[in-house]
Order: sequence, then structure tokens, then C-alpha cells
Amino acid sequence: MLEKIKALQDEIAALTASNKDEAEELRIKYLSKKGIISQLFDEFKNVPVDQKKAIGSALNELKNQSLEKINELKQLYEAKRLGAEGLDLSLPGEIVPIGSRHPLAIVRNEIISIFSRLGFVVSEGPEIEDDWHVFSALNFPPEHPARDMQDTFFIEKDPDILLRTHTSSVQVRVMEKTQPPIRAIFPGRVFRNEAISYRAHCIFHQIEGLYVDENVSFADLKQTLLFFAREFFGDKTEIRLRPSYFPFTEPSAEMDVSCSICGGKGCNVCKHTGWLEIMGCGMVDPNVFERCGIDNKKYTGFAFGMGIERIAMLKYGIKDLRLFFENDVRFLNQFQVAY
Ligand code: PHE
Repeated sequence: MLEKIKALQDEIAALTASNKDEAEELRIKYLSKKGIISQLFDEFKNVPVDQKKAIGSALNELKNQSLEKINELKQLYEAKRLGAEGLDLSLPGEIVPIGSRHPLAIVRNEIISIFSRLGFVVSEGPEIEDDWHVFSALNFPPEHPARDMQDTFFIEKDPDILLRTHTSSVQVRVMEKTQPPIRAIFPGRVFRNEAISYRAHCIFHQIEGLYVDENVSFADLKQTLLFFAREFFGDKTEIRLRPSYFPFTEPSAEMDVSCSICGGKGCNVCKHTGWLEIMGCGMVDPNVFERCGIDNKKYTGFAFGMGIERIAMLKYGIKDLRLFFENDVRFLNQFQVAY
């Protein structure tokens, strides 16, 4: 019997387990009621009296040794599982949602980046403006319908204070402060008293551009906008300038790009015309230069302005403008950029 115990001691000392279940199996094998060691205790009853003392203590020792060993194996496994700081490293990590840029910010940044490659710098102006910067300095006649209460948000106390209806007000602020050459773009929020629908909102975003120097011509305007259109919509893009009217540019034009969706063949998005209207532009009216303190005999310039929502809708195929303002993460998560 003593030899048996000795052999078991060696066997137990050499036990290994690679996981909790294996350690538990070993416990059952040696220490459970029907386990090897329990059986030895049963046999102990038949041991002659004179050997009981020696065998009894050897048996107890064996039992303690195997208890210790199996606990050790279990703990070893636990330690691996819990890591150094007692953390359960096997639990799935907490999901930290990573934000994404707003599609309007992505498009704005891309437009800024294209124009900055042509040397345009970014300037900004206030959203709460006065009549001078939004209308008067921009050559709007006093009775012009754009000043109408229907379009513009005024405050009741002082009709001179209003929310800007376009970013052209920043043209005025820049020209009042800076003498040419001026090459700048002005991104920002604008406000119009319009009913909210899938294609209009009372708040939206524009990017305005202004280039003033000696000998700036309509050809410069056209080439700059062609460069922009091809950088933004792809190098096969064509542009078309249609005569238009703005009080602050003369001549004025609307710029269309060939439809990036059907390649100009005609589809639902371009209403089967093959063209998409994306901005207003023109040569700065000499009256505006005069009002802003720039010599209109010496300098000429061009300006353009586009709505960021419209361009983002075209770029991403978004059909409802209201989605930009709802901040629904299911919508916003779809726009991931590397920067
Ligand atoms: N401000 C005009 C608008 O809001 C756009 C524009 C900007 C037109 C600059 C010509 C030059 O529609």
C-alpha cells in the first residue's frame, strides 16, 4: 500500500492541465467520492493495525498534496484568464463608437482643399449681419425682392439686423479690409425664411469664392470653375455657363456641370437634360468695388457661390436634404473619410 501511495504521489506531482475543465476532470479522477484516493481510504479499513499509523499519515499527505496540486492547476488557469490586474481579458471589449465626419463637412473640406491648391485662403464672417453687408454694399436696389420679409429673417426691433441669406456678405467684409490681390473662399451657414422640404431648408451652407486683381477676366473665372468641377466630379466633367442675374456681378452666370450620374446622357437626377446646376457666378460689379473701397478702374474680379447641401446630395445620391440636419447616426455613419 505504501508503494502504491508513493507511486500516486509521483503521478500527482507531474499532473498538468491546460484549462479549467481538464483540472476539474483531474479532481474527479483523484478526489471525488469514487476517485482513486477515496478508494484508497476505503482500502485503509483492511490495513493491519500495526501499519495503520504509517499508512494513515501517508494517505493524508497524499490527499493534501493532490488537493493542493489540483487547486494550483485551477488557479494557474484563472490567472491566465484574468490577466495581471484581475481583469477578465476574455470578456468582449466595450464598444466605443467612433464618430464620423458629417457629410457636409466632408464636402466643404474637399471644396476648400481644391481651391487652396489654386492659392485661395479661407475667411469667415458673422451669421448675424446688417443690411449693408448682405444687400446694400452688394448693389441690391432698395426695392429688390431678396430683401423681402418672405426671404430674410429680420429681428423685430431693428430691421437693420438680419441673418445673412448668402455668404456674399463675406465678400464685402473682406474687400472692406483688404486691398487686392484677393483670392479667398468663404464657407458658412446661411438662413432663408423658406418652408422646409426635401429640397429646401431655412438653414443651409454655402461656399463663396472671390478673386480680385488687375486684369482678371471672365476666362479666368471659367478656367477656375472648370478646374474645380473636374477635380470634384471627375476629369471627364464638362461645364456650361448660362447667362443669369445677380445685383453684385455683371455679367452673371449659372454654372452647370455635366451629370456625373449618367455622364450627360440624361437620367432622373439631371431631369434628362444631362446637366446639373451647381452655382452662381460672375464678374464683380464695379459698383460693389466702389462701395467696398476698391479702385474699380484698376481692378477686376470674379465671384462664385454654391450650396454645399446640393453638391453633397449630388455626390452621395442623397434624395432628401432634411437628412443633413436630423443627426441620425444611421445616416451619418455611412460617411467615413480617412482624415
Ligand atoms: N450669393 C448668390 C446666391 O446666394 C450666389 C453667388 C455668389 C452668385 C457669388 C454670384 C457670385 O445665390
